[in-house]
Amino acid sequence: MFDKLTDYQDDIIEGIFRRCAADNRPEVMNLSIGVYRDRHGAAPVMNAVRQAEADVIASQQTKAYVGPLGNMAYAGAIERLVLGDDHPVIDSGRLKTAQTPGAGAALRVAAELIRDLAPDTTIWFSDPVWLHQVDFFTRAGLKVAWHPYYDWQSGTLDFDAMLDGLGKAKAGDIVVIHAACHNPTGADLSLDQWRVLTEFCLQRKLMPLVDSAYQGYGDGIEADAAGLRHMAAHMPEMMIAVSSSKSFAVYRDRVGALMLLHPEGGRGAEEAWLHMGDLIRGLYFMPPDLGAAVITHIMSDASLKAAWQAELETARTHVQRLRQLTVDHFTTALPDFDSRYMLRQKGMFSCLPLSDEQRLTLEQDHAVYLMPSGRLNFAALSEDKITYLAEALNTVWK
Ligand SMILES: Cc1ncc(COP(=O)(O)O)c(C=O)c1O
Repeated sequence: MFDKLTDYQDDIIEGIFRRCAADNRPEVMNLSIGVYRDRHGAAPVMNAVRQAEADVIASQQTKAYVGPLGNMAYAGAIERLVLGDDHPVIDSGRLKTAQTPGAGAALRVAAELIRDLAPDTTIWFSDPVWLHQVDFFTRAGLKVAWHPYYDWQSGTLDFDAMLDGLGKAKAGDIVVIHAACHNPTGADLSLDQWRVLTEFCLQRKLMPLVDSAYQGYGDGIEADAAGLRHMAAHMPEMMIAVSSSKSFAVYRDRVGALMLLHPEGGRGAEEAWLHMGDLIRGLYFMPPDLGAAVITHIMSDASLKAAWQAELETARTHVQRLRQLTVDHFTTALPDFDSRYMLRQKGMFSCLPLSDEQRLTLEQDHAVYLMPSGRLNFAALSEDKITYLAEALNTVWK
């Protein structure tokens, strides 16, 4: 069987990771992978997580199975973190959540649900978008389409073009929206635009699937969820994929959630939830528990929660500082390149205007690794390397 596999083509993102890992040049700069790094270049375990993990392990009475829908205490805690304690759908009976191994798995489960319930649906993505996000849906055999999103000239979200593109969607189609810190551009919807988009989806009967992977990295924990909270308060049906990977720096522990918002609640919502559990059983049986238990403990302990919030805020401001330093350096070193758009963008990422060819030249000639669309992770950039990056860009842009 396996001898049929002869022409393996690297996935474009995995290919970048592979080439970077094999690059032995001392000056290598890995600005590709979406992991937060501190000023020492480390991707540290948060102190709150370390403490909570010790508590959970010390008090754990059993490692018996938790079931396909995962840790329900985590599901409840994450509903409140994402939607807020006072949100109208909390305790409405309309919201049903499964804990999943990260948002990646949540997106794959969402795709499976759509294939089961509405296989003719088209899934709409922004152009550009994190490419792996699209894979979850194409691998499930679903149709995908792109709408305009980003204006490369101004470095802003082109909202009119976005709505124009989504005008081609048919009733029942699904629109994937990034809650905050859009991957890859960092160009987010304003709260007013969330309101307009909510109305647009309601009128055209489109279902939003909001992907919330960077809560706390944009304008703060509450502000980053404001748009999706508005949407969830008004949409009859909606899905929300949540990642705890970045917000709690527990990437490898695989913690996240898929929330379903049912139009009526009651028995119908229960059915949807049970169906989701059934699909999960067939996909990966059940999620790991430890990371979810650790986050549940943090969210239920006032002092751990405060410590976590402070650590996340430090990470957020560190990334903002790197944005500012980068723009300051670029303004002097690259006078023909107006980089100020990077200050208006949110989260770890912004895109540099580079063709694929220029991006590969950066890899080959300068050992600088970026993602497709020229995505740069500020959190992976150390202050003393910004000058080197500017010089490398100067060479490829010449
Ligand atoms: C927008 C977005 N969604 C989901 C994910 C996947 O997150 P997780 O690690 O929770 O699977 C990522 C990871 O980079 C992401 O950028």
